[in-house]
Amino acid sequence: MQVDLRSPWWIRDIEVPTRLVLAPMAGVSVQAFRRQGRRFGAGLVCSEMVSCAGLQHGNERTLGYLRIASDERPLAVQIFGSEPEVMAEAARMVEDAGADLVDVNFGCPVRKVTKTGAGATLLEDSERACAVVSAVAEAVAVPVTVKMRRGLENGSRACLELGPRLVDAGAASLTLHPRSAKQMYTGEADHSLTAELVERVEVPVVASGDVTSRARAQAILATTGAAAVMVGRAAQGNPWALREIVEGDAGPPARGEVVAELILFMRETVRELGERRATGFLKKFYGWYLGRGRFPRPFKQELVQLETLDEVEQRLFAAAPGAAEVLERLEADLPSGEDDVVLDLPISIYGGG
Ligand SMILES: Cc1cc2nc3c(=O)[nH]c(=O)nc-3n(C[C@H](O)[C@H](O)[C@H](O)COP(=O)(O)O)c2cc1C
Repeated sequence: MQVDLRSPWWIRDIEVPTRLVLAPMAGVSVQAFRRQGRRFGAGLVCSEMVSCAGLQHGNERTLGYLRIASDERPLAVQIFGSEPEVMAEAARMVEDAGADLVDVNFGCPVRKVTKTGAGATLLEDSERACAVVSAVAEAVAVPVTVKMRRGLENGSRACLELGPRLVDAGAASLTLHPRSAKQMYTGEADHSLTAELVERVEVPVVASGDVTSRARAQAILATTGAAAVMVGRAAQGNPWALREIVEGDAGPPARGEVVAELILFMRETVRELGERRATGFLKKFYGWYLGRGRFPRPFKQELVQLETLDEVEQRLFAAAPGAAEVLERLEADLPSGEDDVVLDLPISIYGGG
């Protein structure tokens, strides 16, 4: 049966207006990315994972602190850690700051995280995983969701055993990225596992992994019974992919539109991370926005070598004269920023899921 990607679904009492969720991606999912995702059709956005270890030690290496605002809602904030009480405390902070959902990361395969017993390690430590979810669910009134990988080793089916137990412990929705932690991002996401998970739980399941087009999204929804698809890498520098998935093909964006979105993204990121951190952070986005045949390849190289973001902006405007007008319109619609809340939770530099 074909699912209408523009139809709503619910995580307990939280209405999600479309079947597309923007993936949490450490080092990518800053506020500008989440806001842009909402504008282009994502029904739900998620912060990258924020470290609860930072709460205890205060010495996590960070990119900055999490900033959220009401126009992002519905918004999930993802936390990771392995100590139930510390996770519960972080969840309370996230709820107080206005998040609609608290998402718990059981998928991060990065060693810096797994060696602390957090992230994907919890897929095979079910006692602790359930203790984390039940402590978090007891601590907050908002729904608690969990994002998992299939297991640690290739071929693992740990997620199918663990998923129902997490629901019993209080998870109101599960997202599955059906690759093993060992696989990192190689091979393919095996969505036959997503279909099996859907069979085993009564809560909505979100399918994550290799959703790159409307055709793929529809096929995954139809064959798995998932409530929604999650899109990650395909949306990097490419919010138009989200629009294509939710609404159908609108054709490639004009250069002026690409540049306007990139400059808006840069300006918002400077506001969130500060000029110094943003300058390095943004470099990877130039290739993501300007690639895909939109601009000649040497253009990106040129931008990466410029020292200041002002110079980058000037060069971008010169390359796409129509951009200024589009940018003006986009900025006119931006929220004032008055209701921004900055949480004392660090955005970790060690990302993944
Ligand atoms: C750069 C990067 C950072 C990521 N960081 C996170 C994260 O912080 N939390 C998480 O649950 N998943 C994280 N993921 C995993 C994605 O949310 C998603 O599950 C995965 O990329 C598969 O989806 P895709 O094929 O649409 O990219 C990350 C992925 C990438 C590529």
